[in-house]
Amino acid sequence: MRLPTNRIEKACSPTDPAAATGVGRRLSSSIFALVFAIGVAAPASAQNRGDCRGQQPTGWSLRIAPESEPGTPMVVTGRVLAADGVTPVAGATVFVFQTDDAGYYSPGGMDESNARLCGLVLTDGDGRYRFETVRPGHYATGGPPAHVHYRVWGPGISRQSFTLNFEGDPLLGARGRDAGANPTWATIRPISPDAEGVLRVVRDLRLR
Ligand SMILES: [Fe+2]
Repeated sequence: MRLPTNRIEKACSPTDPAAATGVGRRLSSSIFALVFAIGVAAPASAQNRGDCRGQQPTGWSLRIAPESEPGTPMVVTGRVLAADGVTPVAGATVFVFQTDDAGYYSPGGMDESNARLCGLVLTDGDGRYRFETVRPGHYATGGPPAHVHYRVWGPGISRQSFTLNFEGDPLLGARGRDAGANPTWATIRPISPDAEGVLRVVRDLRLR
């Protein structure tokens, strides 16, 4: 169940005129209780804060797009590595968000701050993460090459941003060729289907 976030925040706002009345206070309290009970409160700048509809990371692998999601299935794997590019980092939170196959962040819209396809995982003891999704489409409104956004943070790790682009994307121009020759932590990564037609991508994240 997903509540309309903007309505929740408006109703809970101390500037809401309804809150000045007893009815308003009781209503606001009830909404607060409901929000905390079902754990779906999301701040307006959810993506900047690393929030995906109140989700908490619990494992290193996660499906972020339902099996019924339109588009080409894609599995992204990788590791979080220390600045030396070798040492795996365990227990890091990896937050990802992306457009859907049609190039929208939100249903029929471009609300990147509340992307529908998002998720959080925790790297395992070998620094690994994995998520199942669909290949993101180019922005429906035109713009950059197709991409997945990352935010990574954790104990002793300041919040850092990364991007995944796909080799061969025509919007990358010449930069989109020969990505396979680059280190695994490069932004542009090779993408190819496995025997079942699921696109496979490896994107390591080297901390700065
Ligand atoms: Fe984006």
